[in-house]
Amino acid sequence: VFANIAQGPEDPILGVTVAYNKDTSPNKLNLGVGAYRTEEGKPLVLNVVRKAEKLLVNDQSRVKEYLPITGLADFNKCSAKLIFGADSPAIQENRVTTVQSLSGTGSLRVGAEFLAKHYHQRTIYIPRPTWGNHPKVFSIAGLAVEYYRYYEPNTRGLDFQGLLEDLKSAPAGAIVLLHACAHNPTGVDPTLEQWEQIRQLMRSQGLLPFFDSAYQGFASGSLDADAQPIRLFVADGGECFAAQSYAKNMGLYGERVGALSIVCKSADVASRVESQLKLVIRPMYSNPPIHGPSIVATILKDRDMYNEWTVELKAMADRIITMRQQLFDALTAKGTPGDWSHIIKQIGMFTFTGLNSEQVAFMTKEYHVYMTSDGRISMAGLSSRTVPHLADAIHAAVTK
Ligand code: LMR
Repeated sequence: VFANIAQGPEDPILGVTVAYNKDTSPNKLNLGVGAYRTEEGKPLVLNVVRKAEKLLVNDQSRVKEYLPITGLADFNKCSAKLIFGADSPAIQENRVTTVQSLSGTGSLRVGAEFLAKHYHQRTIYIPRPTWGNHPKVFSIAGLAVEYYRYYEPNTRGLDFQGLLEDLKSAPAGAIVLLHACAHNPTGVDPTLEQWEQIRQLMRSQGLLPFFDSAYQGFASGSLDADAQPIRLFVADGGECFAAQSYAKNMGLYGERVGALSIVCKSADVASRVESQLKLVIRPMYSNPPIHGPSIVATILKDRDMYNEWTVELKAMADRIITMRQQLFDALTAKGTPGDWSHIIKQIGMFTFTGLNSEQVAFMTKEYHVYMTSDGRISMAGLSSRTVPHLADAIHAAVTK
């Protein structure tokens, strides 16, 4: 019955890894997917995660029963505190409902399904450009996707005026997707003053903020600083959605651990919202997995382990910043034409190089450097050993 089924395209990001795996060159370099690597080019399991896992395995009282539909209660509580702040009035007033979901994507999807079913305005504005999966997640859930201006290629910075203009002309009540920090793919974030202007504009237009927080701790190295934009919105007492992922900041990629929080106007509304989230989740995947959130809760509940995590997280963020400097220095030393200062100005896991798709294809073919066709490179995939190779590839691509 499927004899005529069409071959689907590879995913624009995860498909880069598929192509990389097929390459037999010893010099191949995967800068596609945003996944942290050590200086030796290896995936990293944090020491504090290993420690938490040992505690969990040795605890004979632990069983493998189903979690509730909303997930592990301790995990949800800790996740809300992590993103909104331990002393958040919204949490104290029980106005926040948090459900454990399948990492960032799953949290976005559950939120989107809920909005498509219960919110009067089914249009979501997402930045141009944005993470490639965003438009698919929202449209498949039943929302209409529109774009707001975000990136200015000439300055390789924020198109703040364009952003404000587009949000100003959005219909009242429209949902707006905001990257909490370390914008993917551009590495360009608004300043706190700009965030405040965005907040004022959105609240005055009645726009609903939906934050995607996939990199808390990765932008500045500080968990609190990276959550500031979200906390600005929550502090004004208005509604707010937040999708959290522990893939990058705790290195729990394949465990698929994340949370969706919805800040409501009252405890009563939050409790009814939660009852509806359960009706979204149950037919989708019934209830979430237990191992990943148990690791997170173990770490977040223990002061020493929490501190240990922040040190390891900062070390990852710092290594990425070092890679930025090294790549910038290497291109400067080679005299590669162009201004490459955006490599050290942008933040988070990615550099949006400005290389076009032909240049990317050239680098892949001739230098076995793998990256997404929009010119994004994952700085976390680089090491001191591989920086010269990447610099050679970029130099050749822009001078050919
Ligand atoms: C990325 O943008 O590379 C990551 O968020 C991984 C993914 O799922 O696309």
